[in-house]
Amino acid sequence: MIEAEEIEASYGGIQVLWDLSMSVSEDDGVVAIVGPNGAGKSTLLRVLSGLHPIDDGRVTVWGDDIGTLDPSDIVRKGFVHVSEERNLFGEMSVQENLEMGAYTRRDALAENLAEMYDLFPVLEERKDQRAGSLSGGEQQMLAIARGLMAEPKILALDEPSEGLAPQITSRMFEKIEEISEDVTVLVIEQHVHRALELAERAYLLENGEIVAEDTGSALLESEHVENAYL
Ligand SMILES: Nc1ncnc2c1ncn2[C@@H]1O[C@H](COP(=O)(O)OP(=O)(O)OP(=O)(O)O)[C@@H](O)[C@H]1O
Ligand SMILES: [Mg+2]
Repeated sequence: MIEAEEIEASYGGIQVLWDLSMSVSEDDGVVAIVGPNGAGKSTLLRVLSGLHPIDDGRVTVWGDDIGTLDPSDIVRKGFVHVSEERNLFGEMSVQENLEMGAYTRRDALAENLAEMYDLFPVLEERKDQRAGSLSGGEQQMLAIARGLMAEPKILALDEPSEGLAPQITSRMFEKIEEISEDVTVLVIEQHVHRALELAERAYLLENGEIVAEDTGSALLESEHVENAYL
């Protein structure tokens, strides 16, 4: 379980997260974070994965204060963050990228590779291809699969459908649903309606603050979401 309590975060003295409390546990299924551009969604994920410091408040990762952990400890404990940038190794093959994702789980490498090729058959077809030459959708699938190679209990995805054609976006949502049968998925999405339909719980973030928190379906109906997006 990851818990943020009354956190504040900033960039160069400009505060972007304000008194923000949220949590996600391994029993959650899908948890969505939605909100307008610049609301602080990606910053929140960076804080939870130890990539951005907090100025105040507290974050615990399965009970340990995040200040005592480095990013690879957080991965080992079970939280993996697939960032907006994807950060693939473009010159390396698909399979090599997947192997890099397993750096905390060398023991189960072959088994996990087979599982990823089962989940994303297109990656097996292209396992020897350079990651940089994959299509946008394939690269996003590879980034997600690489994250799963670390066997997270909670997988965070920052805009997994960004830049994808509508048909591929639908496939991506199907995959997220499939993944969430085994792993909690904390997802940031621009496709707000689809994300809320899928989410057991959701947070609406505006200007660095959580302004609503509810089940996905309740938030879907709420005036907050309408106001934020119309
Ligand atoms: N590296 C950075 N340096 C300075 N300011 C930053 C940096 N990254 C983000 N910010 C600022 O912090 C605020 C929150 O940004 P963040 O990327 O977390 O928002 P977001 O909700 O993910 O937005 P989007 O939907 O556009 O991805 C914005 O005002 C942004 O300009
Ligand atoms: Mg973002």
